[in-house]
Amino acid sequence: MVPRIIKLFILSLTAGIYFSLASCYYDNGDTIYPKGPNDCDTSSITFSADILPIIQDNCISCHNHVSFLGSVNLEGYNNVAVYANNGLLVGSIRHYAGFRPMPDGQPMLDECSIESVEAWVRNGVLNN
Ligand code: HEC
Repeated sequence: MVPRIIKLFILSLTAGIYFSLASCYYDNGDTIYPKGPNDCDTSSITFSADILPIIQDNCISCHNHVSFLGSVNLEGYNNVAVYANNGLLVGSIRHYAGFRPMPDGQPMLDECSIESVEAWVRNGVLNN
């Protein structure tokens, strides 16, 4: 049997660690407010560093040459560029009226991701 005093000691130690971690968490503004509209930097968006990861994380599971949902393939620059240029990419992620809201059945992308895609399209759909 572990003596009661040791048990109490371990318990208070665990609680101490828990509350110190919890306070770190709540002090961290970036955790509570991940990339808000005001700290979204769209001045140097590139396809490879910014757009491709957004597509891979949110779209590629349904839109690849195997799944091909809605006959849309978003693998690689050439495929993404088609939908960037015909307006469907921005229309679908902005949930504009008349477009299928994407990602399908899931919450809208975060504002900074959407603004990044819009900036990339506005800058001419560069393969950079
Ligand atoms: C869970 C699966 C799924 C995910 C994830 C998903 N889509 Fe789709 N997407 C679909 C389906 C299904 C359709 C076909 C809808 C229809 O035509 O009824 C579609 C259609 C589209 C279309 C054609 C829209 C139109 O109006 O013709 C575009 C563009 C598109 N998706 C872009 C995206 C983008 C960009 C993402 C990521 C931000 C994404 N999708 C994520 C399932 C998905």
